[in-house]
Amino acid sequence: MISLEFQEVIKSRRTIRKFTDEDVSEEDIRKIIETGMLAPSAGNTQSWEFIIVRDKTTKHSLSQEALGQIHVFEAPVLIVVAANTKLAEKRYGSRGRDVYCFLSTGAATQNMLLMAVSMGLGASWVGAFKERPVQEILNLPEDIRPIGIITIGHPAETPEMPKRRSYKEVVHNEKW
Ligand SMILES: Cc1cc2nc3c(=O)[nH]c(=O)nc-3n(C[C@H](O)[C@H](O)[C@H](O)COP(=O)(O)O)c2cc1C
Repeated sequence: MISLEFQEVIKSRRTIRKFTDEDVSEEDIRKIIETGMLAPSAGNTQSWEFIIVRDKTTKHSLSQEALGQIHVFEAPVLIVVAANTKLAEKRYGSRGRDVYCFLSTGAATQNMLLMAVSMGLGASWVGAFKERPVQEILNLPEDIRPIGIITIGHPAETPEMPKRRSYKEVVHNEKW
């Protein structure tokens, strides 16, 4: 049975792009990442890597490569989530390299976003960035592909939920 608390976490999660100046502790970041590591992954390959970024200069460079999105600079902490394509390819060939590792890192990302909410923190999933420059800024090897920058901090806004497509529109019975 789904607990109300869990539903509350799911429903209250919003993309937070404004943060207070308050820092987020190493311990809290560790808890968030450990929750990401509990996500399902193809064949339990766990083809994810996490890069914690606090340095202002690095955040500024990442923000520049993310279409200048200012919350990437302003958030006290970033967790860059990257797919370890080699790890997934070893086990599952091209499907592991091109599909599974991204799905698994996506699942880890969602776990982390929900954990942040349950801890009273705010976060956003930033996917709009230039992959190659981000790899260079973070010294990532070729086969470690960044798929998301999670910005984390204490929320300074409470956005409304953006409109969802209706159940009727997205659910298809038996066939399209
Ligand atoms: C794959 C992906 C990429 C995203 N990229 C960005 C982004 O680059 N910048 C941003 O501010 N939000 C980004 N978002 C957040 C979405 O804009 C947000 O989830 C959506 O508008 C729904 O709002 P909600 O998260 O508050 O429910 C991204 C979300 C996903 C799943």
